[in-house]
Amino acid sequence: MTVNDPEAARRGASLTAAPSPRGLDGVVAARTRLSHVDGLAGELIIGGYELKELAGRVGFEEAGHLLWRGALPGGEELGELRRELAVLRALPEETMRVVRAAAKAPPIDALRMASATLSLDLADPDSIAPAADLTAAKMLTARFPTVVAAHARLSAGQEPILPRADLSRAANFLYMVHGKEPDPIAARALDTYWVTVIDHGMNASTFAARVIASTRSDMVSAVTGAIGALKGPLHGGAPGPVLDMLVEIRSADRAEAWVRNELAAGRRIMGFGHRVYKVRDPRAEVLRSVAEEMSAAHLEDHKLFDLARAVEGTALKVLDEVKPGRNLRTNVEFYTALVLQSLGLKPRSFVATFACGRIAGWCAHVIEQHAEDHLIRPQSEYVGPRGLHFSSPDST
Ligand code: ACO
Repeated sequence: MTVNDPEAARRGASLTAAPSPRGLDGVVAARTRLSHVDGLAGELIIGGYELKELAGRVGFEEAGHLLWRGALPGGEELGELRRELAVLRALPEETMRVVRAAAKAPPIDALRMASATLSLDLADPDSIAPAADLTAAKMLTARFPTVVAAHARLSAGQEPILPRADLSRAANFLYMVHGKEPDPIAARALDTYWVTVIDHGMNASTFAARVIASTRSDMVSAVTGAIGALKGPLHGGAPGPVLDMLVEIRSADRAEAWVRNELAAGRRIMGFGHRVYKVRDPRAEVLRSVAEEMSAAHLEDHKLFDLARAVEGTALKVLDEVKPGRNLRTNVEFYTALVLQSLGLKPRSFVATFACGRIAGWCAHVIEQHAEDHLIRPQSEYVGPRGLHFSSPDST
């Protein structure tokens, strides 16, 4: 972690280390070869490729291989990885019991609980050796969609559907949620979404995973912690509220008054603003195209897409006016809401569906952090009192 006086930081001299910015804004907390977010250029690099090189052109397993192995797979490697992940999809009984018990809980909570149980199925759950990490990464990446789909069914009072190994990851997920094989356009849309969100620099959930991994804790513990960080509305929990916003606004002519009213009440407009991007999030552009493609088939989706475009334009204009200089632009969550809605997913499961894509990135960061093998342990700036003296109530 970069501090003004690294020598002092090394000695643990808390009083001489300059405090880092609030929320570690701008602090470099890790070296990574996995992804890079250039917030001024509006670029996201994943394993050496700009997002626009990958999105819609490589499948999720290929992007996962790129992160876990450092290169896109050859044809044979890809076939093997797909087969390996496909046979790992079914959930162990213990995990399914937890998903059933959590049927009424929010999907992201159910995923957190189910994720924790998945270490039961590993031969050596405490091992952080590269081979053990890769085994755990494949198992978690294969099973997250099964957990989310099973939970979606159970929470709707339906029985879960067993995964099929003959379908792609995205097609199988939609099949397990809806009970029928999806249209190939829908499966491709979900696959592109998962590639788009697969990794994103030192975001809060990835940082949480790396902090846990830096203690030499295991893969399952690290990603389970990451799910907790992803849940919050300032991170992965925004697309549900984006959809609520569009439903409340209802028609483009009501957008300006609605946005002004929210800002006047001190509330944030979901799907806008980003800690790193000061220009449009490149993922928003990819997902806008996906949402547009998906909206072509259904009139209702098309109307929602048109409304979203209008609300986006209005929100950007009003945010610039009411919050000048903050550079609040459209972020990934805005069009995520439209893509996931058009796939027939419920808003409450949006963040858990996000986790099904980000899991591959989390696992890659855990592998990288385990190889780095250095404890992440920053200091805090003490702002409390000093010199207090204890007096026992009995002594008065
Ligand atoms: N709507 C209105 N005002 C906003 C918004 C927003 N969406 N985002 C930031 N601001 C304002 C803040 O109120 C603050 O104003 P002030 O200077 O008058 O106090 C200023 O912009 C700076 O805000 P910070 O909270 O310091 O900015 P930060 O970089 O910490 O916030 C964040 C980034 C959390 C994403 C924020 O923009 C936000 O809350 N957005 C809405 C939620 C959202 O879309 N989350 C998804 C993010 S993408 C992802 O994580 C996958």
